[in-house]
Amino acid sequence: MRDDERDLRLAVQLLNDAARVAVLTGAGVSAESGVPTFRGAGGFWRGRSAVELATPGAFRSDPAGVWEFYRFRIGALAGVTPNEGHRSLVTLERRCERFWLITQNVDGLHRAAGSENVIELHGSLARARCTSCSYDCRTDDLPDEAVPSCPRCGDRLRPAVVWFGESLPEPAVRSAEEAVRECQVMVVAGTSGVVEPAASLAHRAGARGAAVVEVNLEETPISRVARVSLLGPSGVVLPRLVGLVD
Ligand code: OAD
Repeated sequence: MRDDERDLRLAVQLLNDAARVAVLTGAGVSAESGVPTFRGAGGFWRGRSAVELATPGAFRSDPAGVWEFYRFRIGALAGVTPNEGHRSLVTLERRCERFWLITQNVDGLHRAAGSENVIELHGSLARARCTSCSYDCRTDDLPDEAVPSCPRCGDRLRPAVVWFGESLPEPAVRSAEEAVRECQVMVVAGTSGVVEPAASLAHRAGARGAAVVEVNLEETPISRVARVSLLGPSGVVLPRLVGLVD
């Protein structure tokens, strides 16, 4: 049997034996839907890296520029639909007793595919929130201003995503911690595994005995803790894997 077939069978066996499954996803699972990843060639906008623009400092010094970048990203999602990888995770959720889908993606494609217990660690492009009060709204409903202002208190609105250097939303962290404590298998798909604290979720699940199954085009720092690494595009590998699970 070829190595990749043996690895696939082992991953199927691990999932067949598990009632409690967590999945951690990154930009790679949306790549086949046409959403650029962060660290690939697509992670640039007008010569500036997405990583440089997604910071509180960039918003303080150039709020209109940062909003322009986010309006571009929100607009770019308009025609984007979930791929077979997203859809297969909906099927996986239905066959598990407990299931957590922890995502670093802000594109909303897991929810659009029909996944239910989605934990958005880095927030969502679908929403904006006030920088001062508790107001929040859908980005579809934003006032047409270069820097939209809060209808309640007048301060600036900002995208409801997590920027570099900011803490993650507390409820999302609590749910992700529960997944790390309770899952028997953690599938880690399409993430470079270099951004904390998301990356450490996989390391901690592995350290407490969960089997980590990695799906990626290439090896990552997570490969070291993975029981199985399945190399290939998640839009192909995930449906093949889930299709073989009982
Ligand atoms: P990255 O862009 O860092 O990594 C994407 C990963 O997906 C890489 O490991 C690729 O090899 C892999 N990949 C690409 N296409 C794939 C495919 N079709 N199938 C499977 N794997 C594929 O994206 P993330 O790991 O999600 O944070 O980045 C993590 C966080 O850093 C993001 O959420 C964002 C970013 O800067 C914030 O914005 C706070």
